This record gives sequence, structure tokens and C-alpha cells, in this order.
Amino acid sequence: MKERTLSIIKPDGVLRNLIGEVIKRIEGRDMTIKALKMIRMTKDQARGFYAVHAGKPFFESVTDFMSSGPCVVMVLEGEDVIKRYRELMGATNYKDAAEGTIRREFAVDIEKNIVHGSDSPETAQFEISYFFNALELPK
Ligand code: CMP
Repeated sequence: MKERTLSIIKPDGVLRNLIGEVIKRIEGRDMTIKALKMIRMTKDQARGFYAVHAGKPFFESVTDFMSSGPCVVMVLEGEDVIKRYRELMGATNYKDAAEGTIRREFAVDIEKNIVHGSDSPETAQFEISYFFNALELPK
């Protein structure tokens, strides 16, 4: 089924000049970039984005990190793209990520793990509408 997902190149990925590297991998995998922009979240905006993780031990730290610098946010579209983009990223913890994935090759920390991807259709809908309005993301 054709679906959409939200992808983020996190502040560590932007700082380390990995925007092109991540985009190259996306474009090589039969996924279309439907919308793209660079943003800088405030701490409160990062808290809102990661609201499902509120109360977890890493919540303060990850929201500090995500508001520490610019991120590139993108909407990807394709068959089964939620799962396929997560496979491209690799496991959250780079130590568990499969060979050849973005996190395995570039991440050095469970928090600074270069990229984010939605984990379900419901999450994708929330996350896409968190960053993109109707003008920026045609139907
Ligand atoms: P992400 O997939 O964006 O979702 C939540 C983020 O919190 C995760 O990637 C990491 O950047 C960060 N994080 C830090 N520690 C943990 C942890 N122990 N488990 C899950 N996520 C963590």
C-alpha cells in the first residue's frame, strides 16, 4: 500500500554534513520526497514532537538535543515506506543496527542517531502534520 512517513535528519546529521548522504540513500530506494525543509525546534516544540516519550529517562536529554540545532524534515511516499524507511535507518541503538544501515554506518550514540522515522501510520499522520501544512504538502 502506498503510504507516507516523516523523516528527520537530526542536528547531529546536519552538523556532520550528512544531509546529502541520507537523501542519496532515500532516493536510491524507490521512495519519493514529497516535501522537505530545514527547521530549528524550540525546546517546547521538541517536547511536543516527542510527547509519547514524556516521562521516559531520556526525554529531557533528547528534547535538548533535538532543539540544539537545525533539522531537515521530509515527507517520504512509497509502497510500505514506513517499514522500508525504518529498515534503511537501522535500529534506534546503532549497536543493534544491521550492516549497511544509516545508523550502523554513521551513528555514535543511542541519542545522536542521525535520523528519525515514524513507526506507524498513526504516528506518521501526527508527525507529518506537526511540521507541514496543506500548502507545503499537496495531497
Ligand atoms: P527516535 O527514533 O527519534 O525516537 C526517540 C529518540 O530518543 C531516539 O530516536 C533517540 O534519539 C533518543 N533516545 C535516547 N535514548 C533512548 C533510549 N534508551 N531508547 C530509545 N530512544 C532513545
